[in-house]
Amino acid sequence: MINGAGGGVGPFAVQIAKYFGAEVTGVDNSKKFDMLRSIGADYVIDYTQEDFTKNGQHYDLILDIAGYHMIFDYRRALSSNANLFFSWGFQIYNFPNFVYRSINFIGGSKKMSLMAWKPNNKEDLDFIKELIESGKLVPVIDRCYPLNEVAEAFRYFEEGHPQGKNCDNCGT
Ligand SMILES: NC(=O)c1ccc[n+]([C@@H]2O[C@H](COP(=O)([O-])OP(=O)(O)OC[C@H]3O[C@@H](n4cnc5c(N)ncnc54)[C@H](OP(=O)(O)O)[C@@H]3O)[C@@H](O)[C@H]2O)c1
Repeated sequence: MINGAGGGVGPFAVQIAKYFGAEVTGVDNSKKFDMLRSIGADYVIDYTQEDFTKNGQHYDLILDIAGYHMIFDYRRALSSNANLFFSWGFQIYNFPNFVYRSINFIGGSKKMSLMAWKPNNKEDLDFIKELIESGKLVPVIDRCYPLNEVAEAFRYFEEGHPQGKNCDNCGT
Protein backbone atom coordinates (compact mmCIF):
# COMPACT_ATOMS: atom_id res chain seq x y z
CA MET A 1 0.00 0.00 0.00
CA ILE A 2 1.45 3.32 -1.05
CA ASN A 3 -0.22 6.40 0.37
CA GLY A 4 0.33 9.50 -1.77
CA ALA A 5 1.20 7.26 -4.73
CA GLY A 6 0.62 9.78 -7.51
CA GLY A 7 3.02 12.60 -6.63
CA GLY A 8 6.74 13.08 -7.17
CA VAL A 9 7.95 10.10 -5.14
CA GLY A 10 5.00 7.70 -5.35
CA PRO A 11 5.23 6.51 -8.98
CA PHE A 12 8.80 5.32 -8.37
CA ALA A 13 7.64 3.41 -5.31
CA VAL A 14 4.75 1.81 -7.20
CA GLN A 15 7.02 0.58 -9.98
CA ILE A 16 9.73 -0.69 -7.67
CA ALA A 17 7.12 -2.55 -5.59
CA LYS A 18 5.76 -4.13 -8.78
CA TYR A 19 9.26 -5.11 -9.82
CA PHE A 20 9.55 -7.07 -6.57
CA GLY A 21 6.26 -8.81 -7.29
CA ALA A 22 4.05 -6.97 -4.81
CA GLU A 23 0.32 -6.52 -5.23
CA VAL A 24 0.07 -2.76 -4.99
CA THR A 25 -2.68 -0.47 -3.73
CA GLY A 26 -2.12 3.20 -4.53
CA VAL A 27 -3.91 5.93 -2.58
CA ASP A 28 -4.25 9.35 -4.13
CA ASN A 29 -6.95 11.49 -5.71
CA SER A 30 -8.95 9.93 -8.53
CA LYS A 31 -7.45 12.21 -11.22
CA LYS A 32 -4.27 10.14 -10.89
CA PHE A 33 -5.91 6.73 -11.17
CA ASP A 34 -5.27 6.23 -14.90
CA MET A 35 -1.61 7.05 -14.45
CA LEU A 36 -1.33 4.79 -11.38
CA ARG A 37 -2.92 1.88 -13.21
CA SER A 38 -0.67 2.49 -16.22
CA ILE A 39 2.43 2.01 -14.05
CA GLY A 40 1.10 -1.16 -12.46
CA ALA A 41 -1.06 -0.32 -9.44
CA ASP A 42 -3.47 -3.21 -8.92
CA TYR A 43 -5.93 -1.26 -6.76
CA VAL A 44 -6.53 2.44 -6.27
CA ILE A 45 -8.25 4.34 -3.48
CA ASP A 46 -9.35 7.97 -3.62
CA TYR A 47 -8.22 9.60 -0.39
CA THR A 48 -10.90 12.27 -0.76
CA GLN A 49 -13.61 9.57 -0.64
CA GLU A 50 -12.24 6.80 1.52
CA ASP A 51 -9.93 6.43 4.49
CA PHE A 52 -7.77 3.38 3.77
CA THR A 53 -7.21 2.86 7.48
CA LYS A 54 -10.94 2.36 8.03
CA ASN A 55 -11.97 0.10 5.16
CA GLY A 56 -11.20 -3.17 6.91
CA GLN A 57 -8.27 -4.05 4.62
CA HIS A 58 -4.92 -5.12 6.03
CA TYR A 59 -1.61 -4.53 4.31
CA ASP A 60 1.72 -6.31 4.67
CA LEU A 61 3.68 -3.14 4.01
CA ILE A 62 2.58 0.49 4.02
CA LEU A 63 4.77 3.22 2.57
CA ASP A 64 3.30 6.56 3.57
CA ILE A 65 4.51 9.41 1.43
CA ALA A 66 1.61 11.75 2.21
CA GLY A 67 1.73 11.45 6.01
CA TYR A 68 -1.76 12.45 7.08
CA HIS A 69 -2.40 9.69 9.60
CA MET A 70 -1.50 9.01 13.17
CA ILE A 71 0.19 5.81 14.17
CA PHE A 72 -3.07 4.53 15.74
CA ASP A 73 -4.68 4.55 12.28
CA TYR A 74 -1.86 2.66 10.60
CA ARG A 75 -1.86 0.02 13.27
CA ARG A 76 -5.43 -0.81 12.30
CA ALA A 77 -4.48 -1.21 8.63
CA LEU A 78 -1.32 -3.31 9.11
CA SER A 79 -1.48 -7.07 9.09
CA SER A 80 0.52 -8.85 11.76
CA ASN A 81 4.29 -8.86 11.10
CA ALA A 82 3.74 -5.93 8.74
CA ASN A 83 6.01 -2.94 8.21
CA LEU A 84 5.20 0.74 8.03
CA PHE A 85 7.62 3.15 6.36
CA PHE A 86 7.45 6.92 6.25
CA SER A 87 9.07 9.02 3.58
CA TRP A 88 10.91 11.80 5.35
CA GLY A 89 9.43 15.24 4.89
CA PHE A 90 7.51 17.90 6.74
CA GLN A 91 4.35 15.87 7.16
CA ILE A 92 2.50 17.00 10.23
CA TYR A 93 2.36 13.63 11.95
CA ASN A 94 5.96 12.56 11.47
CA PHE A 95 7.18 13.95 14.74
CA PRO A 96 4.40 12.68 17.04
CA ASN A 97 4.46 9.33 15.27
CA PHE A 98 8.13 8.94 16.04
CA VAL A 99 7.64 9.86 19.65
CA TYR A 100 5.11 7.04 19.84
CA ARG A 101 7.49 4.77 18.02
CA SER A 102 10.14 5.41 20.62
CA ILE A 103 7.82 3.99 23.27
CA ASN A 104 7.04 1.11 20.92
CA PHE A 105 3.39 2.05 20.71
CA ILE A 106 2.91 0.22 17.46
CA GLY A 107 3.38 -2.91 19.48
CA GLY A 108 3.61 -6.62 18.79
CA SER A 109 5.18 -7.73 15.57
CA LYS A 110 4.29 -4.57 13.59
CA LYS A 111 7.31 -2.46 12.74
CA MET A 112 7.72 1.16 11.78
CA SER A 113 10.66 2.88 10.07
CA LEU A 114 11.60 6.23 8.67
CA MET A 115 13.02 6.46 5.17
CA ALA A 116 15.45 9.31 5.47
CA TRP A 117 18.17 10.63 3.24
CA LYS A 118 21.28 8.51 3.08
CA PRO A 119 24.30 8.77 0.82
CA ASN A 120 23.84 6.94 -2.45
CA ASN A 121 25.84 3.78 -2.80
CA LYS A 122 26.99 2.20 -6.03
CA GLU A 123 24.98 -0.98 -5.55
CA ASP A 124 21.66 0.89 -5.20
CA LEU A 125 22.45 3.25 -8.07
CA ASP A 126 23.43 0.35 -10.33
CA PHE A 127 20.16 -1.37 -9.45
CA ILE A 128 18.10 1.77 -10.27
CA LYS A 129 20.12 2.31 -13.46
CA GLU A 130 19.37 -1.26 -14.54
CA LEU A 131 15.65 -0.81 -13.89
CA ILE A 132 15.58 2.42 -15.90
CA GLU A 133 17.65 1.07 -18.79
CA SER A 134 15.44 -2.00 -19.03
CA GLY A 135 12.31 0.18 -19.06
CA LYS A 136 11.02 -1.33 -15.80
CA LEU A 137 11.24 2.03 -14.04
CA VAL A 138 9.90 4.98 -16.01
CA PRO A 139 9.73 8.51 -14.57
CA VAL A 140 6.19 9.88 -14.73
CA ILE A 141 6.39 13.42 -16.06
CA ASP A 142 3.28 15.55 -15.85
CA ARG A 143 4.32 18.44 -18.08
CA CYS A 144 7.45 19.70 -19.78
CA TYR A 145 8.50 23.34 -19.90
CA PRO A 146 11.32 25.05 -21.78
CA LEU A 147 13.81 26.74 -19.49
CA ASN A 148 12.46 30.23 -20.22
CA GLU A 149 9.08 29.12 -18.78
CA VAL A 150 10.48 27.79 -15.54
CA ALA A 151 8.48 30.35 -13.53
CA GLU A 152 5.28 28.99 -15.08
CA ALA A 153 6.41 25.45 -14.18
CA PHE A 154 6.80 26.46 -10.53
CA ARG A 155 3.41 28.19 -10.57
CA TYR A 156 1.80 24.97 -11.80
CA PHE A 157 3.64 23.01 -9.14
CA GLU A 158 2.55 25.44 -6.42
CA GLU A 159 -1.09 25.10 -7.40
CA GLY A 160 -0.79 21.50 -6.21
CA HIS A 161 -1.97 18.23 -7.72
CA PRO A 162 0.73 17.61 -10.36
CA GLN A 163 1.09 13.96 -11.33
CA GLY A 164 4.59 12.63 -10.97
CA LYS A 165 7.31 15.11 -11.77
CA ASN A 166 7.33 18.47 -13.46
CA CYS A 167 10.27 18.58 -15.79
CA ASP A 168 12.26 21.67 -16.69
CA ASN A 169 13.59 21.85 -20.19
CA CYS A 170 13.04 18.24 -21.21
CA GLY A 171 12.57 17.43 -24.85
CA THR A 172 12.73 21.03 -26.02
N1 LIG B 1 10.14 14.63 -4.43
C1 LIG B 1 11.26 14.12 -3.95
O1 LIG B 1 12.23 13.87 -4.69
C2 LIG B 1 11.35 13.77 -2.49
C3 LIG B 1 12.48 13.11 -2.06
C4 LIG B 1 12.53 12.73 -0.75
C5 LIG B 1 11.51 13.01 0.14
N2 LIG B 1 10.43 13.68 -0.28
C6 LIG B 1 9.36 13.93 0.69
O2 LIG B 1 8.30 13.02 0.41
C7 LIG B 1 7.07 13.70 0.62
C8 LIG B 1 6.25 13.62 -0.64
O3 LIG B 1 6.97 14.21 -1.73
P1 LIG B 1 6.34 14.25 -3.19
O4 LIG B 1 7.30 15.00 -4.04
O5 LIG B 1 5.94 12.88 -3.62
O6 LIG B 1 5.06 15.16 -2.89
P2 LIG B 1 3.82 15.41 -3.85
O7 LIG B 1 4.26 15.45 -5.27
O8 LIG B 1 3.07 16.56 -3.27
O9 LIG B 1 2.98 14.07 -3.68
C9 LIG B 1 2.14 13.82 -2.58
C10 LIG B 1 0.92 13.08 -3.10
O10 LIG B 1 0.08 12.78 -1.98
C11 LIG B 1 -1.25 13.11 -2.35
N3 LIG B 1 -2.02 13.41 -1.14
C12 LIG B 1 -2.33 14.62 -0.60
N4 LIG B 1 -3.07 14.45 0.51
C13 LIG B 1 -3.23 13.12 0.66
C14 LIG B 1 -3.91 12.34 1.63
N5 LIG B 1 -4.57 12.87 2.66
N6 LIG B 1 -3.86 10.99 1.50
C15 LIG B 1 -3.20 10.41 0.45
N7 LIG B 1 -2.54 11.11 -0.50
C16 LIG B 1 -2.56 12.45 -0.38
C17 LIG B 1 -1.11 14.31 -3.25
O11 LIG B 1 -2.29 14.44 -4.03
P3 LIG B 1 -2.95 15.86 -4.40
O12 LIG B 1 -2.50 16.15 -5.80
O13 LIG B 1 -4.41 15.61 -4.31
O14 LIG B 1 -2.47 16.86 -3.40
C18 LIG B 1 0.12 13.94 -4.07
O15 LIG B 1 -0.22 13.17 -5.21
C19 LIG B 1 7.40 15.15 1.00
O16 LIG B 1 7.29 15.28 2.40
C20 LIG B 1 8.82 15.33 0.56
O17 LIG B 1 9.50 16.23 1.41
C21 LIG B 1 10.31 14.05 -1.59
